[in-house]
Amino acid sequence: MSKLADKTILLIISGGIAAYKSLELIRLLKTAGVRVRVIMTRAAKEFVSPLTVASLTGEKVHDELFNLTDEIEMGHIELSRAADLLVVAPATADLMAKMAHGHADDLASTTLLATDKQVLIAPAMNVRMWTHAATARNLAKLKRDGALVIGPNEGEMACGEFGPGRMAEPAEIVVAIETALTSKTGALVGKKVLITAGPTREAIDPVRYISNHSSGKQGYAIAEAAARLGADVALVSGPVEVPAPAGVRMVAVQSAVDMLAACERELPCDIAIFAAAVADWRVADEATQKIKKDGKGVPALKFVENPDILKTIAKRGSQRPGLVVGFAAETENLIENARDKLSKKGCDLIVANDVSKDKNVFGGDQNSVHLVTASGVDNWGPLSKHDVAQRLMGRLASLVKGQP
Ligand code: CTP
Repeated sequence: MSKLADKTILLIISGGIAAYKSLELIRLLKTAGVRVRVIMTRAAKEFVSPLTVASLTGEKVHDELFNLTDEIEMGHIELSRAADLLVVAPATADLMAKMAHGHADDLASTTLLATDKQVLIAPAMNVRMWTHAATARNLAKLKRDGALVIGPNEGEMACGEFGPGRMAEPAEIVVAIETALTSKTGALVGKKVLITAGPTREAIDPVRYISNHSSGKQGYAIAEAAARLGADVALVSGPVEVPAPAGVRMVAVQSAVDMLAACERELPCDIAIFAAAVADWRVADEATQKIKKDGKGVPALKFVENPDILKTIAKRGSQRPGLVVGFAAETENLIENARDKLSKKGCDLIVANDVSKDKNVFGGDQNSVHLVTASGVDNWGPLSKHDVAQRLMGRLASLVKGQP
């Protein structure tokens, strides 16, 4: 039985072109056994017909604040009281502004102000409206007031522009709803997630090593987001300064060879995410004693290639995780190189990021990433590493949902 069966969602549809996607959201929720009651703003009715919404929900659509029959029968308070969660999809810039400032001049805004229930919003608007300082302020206020936010995604927009502002996909919104309603259980309950993070250290001798600048922040944020969704998380990590996230099983390793062995011990798993910056080479003959300056010149180090952890796990036949996600840290030809890694390493999704020095990704808190799959590229960012993690896990949870 669906985790959402017998829940009641009060869906508020405001007036944007993305309103058509709310119809698919209603369909998905109904299939999951949810009772969906809908409030439409006046502008929403310009985009989708109340008759279509009523047919899909099997319920009357609510749209008027001063409706005598409704006020006698139930009223706007009753609409929210009977709901397990309020979902605003799409949430226009205008409705977000009203919510942030506590306006109550129609049924949607009045219900949102009168509710004591959790509210999840799925913003959708033109990219300039989304990036405007006023919307950013309103969004920050709404988050402070406890609203949950899903999306928006980046991509081609109905207005012909490109950027963040597209409403999250209905399947992603369903996962966000599941997470909101089952926070102790979550969308990834019963799923095992393996994550690699941080750098590896390849020893030269007992006191020296070769490594890189990876801070581990992105991988740790992903582990935290996966744990929040209820997954059983194993975080196989090289040495980093970041604290271990709550609810995550840590497996500390040093070298790439250790990291591979630790990952193999964690199989089988449902999702494997390889965020570690694995050293490509290790010293062929690690000295057992400290290499001394013996007056005969500098030592010549000979390297051998490290195992490719991601590729090895992705090609494990019957033990292959249900979903394999790689990262591509590039300084040039980002998407082209990412596509190449996607096919050569045999993964389902590559999170590509530009690690040129000026982008400040290593050690920084912001990340602009590109999700590369066989079917296309999604651009996210710049976002905080935590937002990247949350959105990535939301996306993966929606993908893994149908898998046994
Ligand atoms: N990776 C891995 N094991 C390695 C090298 C890389 O598991 N020995 C994984 C990384 O965790 C990442 C992906 O492969 O998910 C790509 O890593 P990246 O450093 O971008 O690519 P490389 O394979 O090292 O290729 P190159 O350095 O030539 O770009």
